[in-house]
Amino acid sequence: MRPQVMAVQATAASGEGPATTEGTGDAVSDPNLVKVYDSQGGEYSRAFGVFLAHTDQKVKATAWLEQEVNGLATREVFIDAGAGTGKLTAWLEPRFRKTIAIEPNPSLRDELQQACPDAELLPVPIAEARPSSRADFVLCSHVFYYIDRARWAETLRYLGTWLQPAGVLSVALQNHETDCMRMLRHFTGEEFDLGALARVFAGEAQGQFDVRTDTVDAHVQTDSFGSAYIIAEFVLNVLPLSHPPRREELERYVRDHFRHGDSYRMSFHQDFLRIQRRA
Ligand SMILES: C[S@@+](CC[C@H](N)C(=O)[O-])C[C@H]1O[C@@H](n2cnc3c(N)ncnc32)[C@H](O)[C@@H]1O
Repeated sequence: MRPQVMAVQATAASGEGPATTEGTGDAVSDPNLVKVYDSQGGEYSRAFGVFLAHTDQKVKATAWLEQEVNGLATREVFIDAGAGTGKLTAWLEPRFRKTIAIEPNPSLRDELQQACPDAELLPVPIAEARPSSRADFVLCSHVFYYIDRARWAETLRYLGTWLQPAGVLSVALQNHETDCMRMLRHFTGEEFDLGALARVFAGEAQGQFDVRTDTVDAHVQTDSFGSAYIIAEFVLNVLPLSHPPRREELERYVRDHFRHGDSYRMSFHQDFLRIQRRA
């Protein structure tokens, strides 16, 4: 897993950035700066909740997932790697005999367990997970941001080893030409390229896997500036923010780029990298 808290602590020690609250992944931030937190703490879990309340991303994802799952030869085992609150896990669970949910963040796991009481829960990151069965369908939805890029290819290969013959692995990530990813680029200079990962995997697959990427539209829409700001801050925290921008800069960006009349709207289109193990 990406050593996000460690990176923030290191900058704090050198006096250049915010400190973190030990063990929670939450930062003790300068109130004039954008908050800093990683994907393993309560701050993340709260911001993710605000995002979920104002996006159609999960509903849009279900249409794509429905088609994929209906096309599977068998529906015995489903693995959700980085299941979060279990929104998609719970929706997919009834379609399979057995569900395995992997979720390392303890403050998301309660909700996950309530949403999917019958799922087998592995409370560890993907790299440490040892699922008890091979799967017909493996989903890894909006998790790769939190994995060090140097480990993307090996993580994808590892997820691929969990597939049954004819099984499908789906990795979802924001499309890089969306409002939210443009904002990330603006403030950090960073971006994510699922296409490059797909090409590397396809190059290595040597006829064992079929690889394809689909883009599915999605948006965030809210009447509340406060919610729009929290969601913008959540997006910036997909990477370790060693030099967080000033709060007022992000507020200005949200107003200038996302305001439409009385509400705020940003595109959150997602790419689905689809990998099928040949039968
Ligand atoms: C944006 S949420 C996505 C949750 C869910 N998959 C969805 O699409 O709604 C990212 C999730 O990835 C989890 N996560 C972060 N690093 C992870 C890792 N190395 N292995 C597994 N899950 C991880 C976080 O705890 C969080 O639940």
